[in-house]
Amino acid sequence: MKIIGLTYDSKTDYQPKAGDPPDAHAEFDHPDTINILVSAIESQNFKVKRIGNINNLLETINALGVDIVFNISEGVSGRNRESQVPMLLEMAGIPFVGADALTLALSLDKVMAKKIFIADGIPTPKFFTIDTVDSLVDADHLKFPLIVKPRFEGSSKGLAESSRVGNMEELKTRTEYVINTYKQPALVEEFICGQEFTVAIVGNNPAQILPIIQIKIDGSLQLNDKFYTFARISSDRLEYVCPAHIGQDLKKKLSELSLRAYNAVECLDFARIDLRVDRGGRPYVLEINPLPSLSIEDVFPLLAKEIGITYEQMVGKILNYALGRYGFN
Ligand SMILES: Nc1ncnc2c1ncn2[C@@H]1O[C@H](COP(=O)(O)OP(=O)(O)OP(=O)(O)O)[C@@H](O)[C@H]1O
Ligand SMILES: [Mg+2]
Repeated sequence: MKIIGLTYDSKTDYQPKAGDPPDAHAEFDHPDTINILVSAIESQNFKVKRIGNINNLLETINALGVDIVFNISEGVSGRNRESQVPMLLEMAGIPFVGADALTLALSLDKVMAKKIFIADGIPTPKFFTIDTVDSLVDADHLKFPLIVKPRFEGSSKGLAESSRVGNMEELKTRTEYVINTYKQPALVEEFICGQEFTVAIVGNNPAQILPIIQIKIDGSLQLNDKFYTFARISSDRLEYVCPAHIGQDLKKKLSELSLRAYNAVECLDFARIDLRVDRGGRPYVLEINPLPSLSIEDVFPLLAKEIGITYEQMVGKILNYALGRYGFN
């Protein structure tokens, strides 16, 4: 029986520090998620060895005794945080599930990912970055409304109602907040009014596009000015509609773009792509998550149900794609 090492960052491993924003640990997994993942892997006839975070990995890396690592570790800070565990594993020659360090870093850094999308002709909202608070001088070459996000975060960290800005004054205030609170540059994008979708992909050559999910906020699919904020994730105002009730044309466009994004940044085994479609029906890739959440509150259980398998089988499927890449099955 194969032994699967599990690397993760549990919320319980970190104490909030003075001055931390309320969403400081949003990327880390709840112990319940880790336990559910362990049971899912074990139900697929594997044995799990819990490794934990990067410090535990560093202490045990020379005698891990696992065949492959299932890594869901988000890392603590910086744009390379998600790459830290994969880099160590790569260095030690230990196989692991999911994309490698390079893909993880350049996708967490939304600006780097957008540059790759642009080079590959994948539409993404127009943008600019602001590195320091006093460098915001000539920002009006994009049309308001704009949205201000931390350059390298996930889980909607740093996203609140005031992230959508309608004038220079609001832009300045929000940019200052993002730079000072998250200690990183702000990414400013054109705000795409319209609809929002998320597309998960699993597997490698050929990759499989899972049913498209549409985001419903406050009971409406026409989101217009509404968007996903940190507060909305944990409220019942947000729903996932699966499969999305959309025509064949849009379905084809979203699938094709998602697959192109998956290949552009060279994802492996699984990923999730977030897209918005403007009022004219034009789709834009917002970002790609090569390490999407497997939490049961997120989209994977829903997708499993939609394709007629269990959540456990979905986890097994992702793991088997990785094992296949390393020639294990
Ligand atoms: N350019 C945009 N136009 C309109 N809405 C946007 C735009 N960029 C982001 N959003 C909204 O903000 C949400 C979060 O943005 P994004 O997906 O880029 O960040 P994230 O925090 O990495 O996401 P996740 O929660 O998926 O990890 C999106 O799901 C969307 O609702
Ligand atoms: Mg997102």
